[in-house]
Amino acid sequence: MTASDARTRVWLVGASGMLGSVLAERLNELDVNLATTDRELDIGEREQVLRFAAEFAPELIVNAAAHTRVDDAEREEAEAFRVNAEGPLHLAEAARKASARFLHFSTDYVFAGDADVPYVEGAPTGPIGAYGRSKLAGEQRVLEHFPAGSTIVRTSWLFGPNGNNFVKTMVRLLREREELRVVADQSGRPTYTRDLARASLALAGVAEPAREAGVYHFANSEATTWYGLTVAIHEECLARGLALKATRIVPVRTDEFPRPARRPAYSVLDTSKVEAALAAAPRSFRAALNSYLDEELLGAGFV
Ligand SMILES: NC(=O)c1ccc[n+]([C@@H]2O[C@H](COP(=O)([O-])OP(=O)(O)OC[C@H]3O[C@@H](n4cnc5c(N)ncnc54)[C@H](OP(=O)(O)O)[C@@H]3O)[C@@H](O)[C@H]2O)c1
Repeated sequence: MTASDARTRVWLVGASGMLGSVLAERLNELDVNLATTDRELDIGEREQVLRFAAEFAPELIVNAAAHTRVDDAEREEAEAFRVNAEGPLHLAEAARKASARFLHFSTDYVFAGDADVPYVEGAPTGPIGAYGRSKLAGEQRVLEHFPAGSTIVRTSWLFGPNGNNFVKTMVRLLREREELRVVADQSGRPTYTRDLARASLALAGVAEPAREAGVYHFANSEATTWYGLTVAIHEECLARGLALKATRIVPVRTDEFPRPARRPAYSVLDTSKVEAALAAAPRSFRAALNSYLDEELLGAGFV
């Protein structure tokens, strides 16, 4: 960084997470003046956040940090709130003080999952677990504190490089097991982190005019189930000549896999608002899955 550096000053928080790592790549492509932090700067600690922002003087703060362990959150709800509710509040406060824009991420888990039409941004929330409650509280604190400068992007079922995700796990299991039993009574829209990063940074105004502040939904298009996604992964791996052991993929009900946290049954986000704002529709999850398999998973020595 030099005194004459006129590039946009962006502070990316949570830069080594699954989404954070691709946001960092995209921000570097867009040639911003980027500062990144991760665990070493605890967003639950207000003073640390305010001090860093005062020193770096960002024009945009991007928050990809979160307590994302959905099952653990049930027994560590206070910690989930500290990171997912207090953390974003501190960052929104820092953004407001610096007259910066704030880009924050949230989740389909803020909804109860009992709808039968896709969730629009204004649909009633009603989280059914601790993680969803903490993320909803984060949204509310951000919107109370800095509504004019905050963009919150809710997303769902992420996959991408640099982290464990459902696609990666299924490719491994398809190679190890003859039979896979996969939940077929939860629906959602899988989302490639690279597509999400591109759209979110556009909304927040990096290298183009910022769109209106507020809440947006972003997910790749077409809803499916975990079972449907697994069938797609299986077909695409076979099409790429990957040696698989699995010959049977069996659809099962959620109650076959008891977990500490309940999952929403219907997590389908409506993305009309972001489509209108960006004048572009998210590509299908199948097209995004193909990119991920070709560019990252199979290309990176996974085979
Ligand atoms: N993954 C999904 O399917 C999904 C779906 C919908 C929405 N989202 C949302 O998308 C965003 C990104 O999720 P992700 O899957 O990329 O998460 P992730 O891979 O778990 O990354 C989160 C990052 O935040 C860091 N972190 C945790 N607590 C912190 C703290 N107190 N201070 C600073 N950093 C901290 C983590 O560090 P450690 O690794 O050291 O813990 C990690 O690097 C989150 O807002 C999440 O709620 C995710």
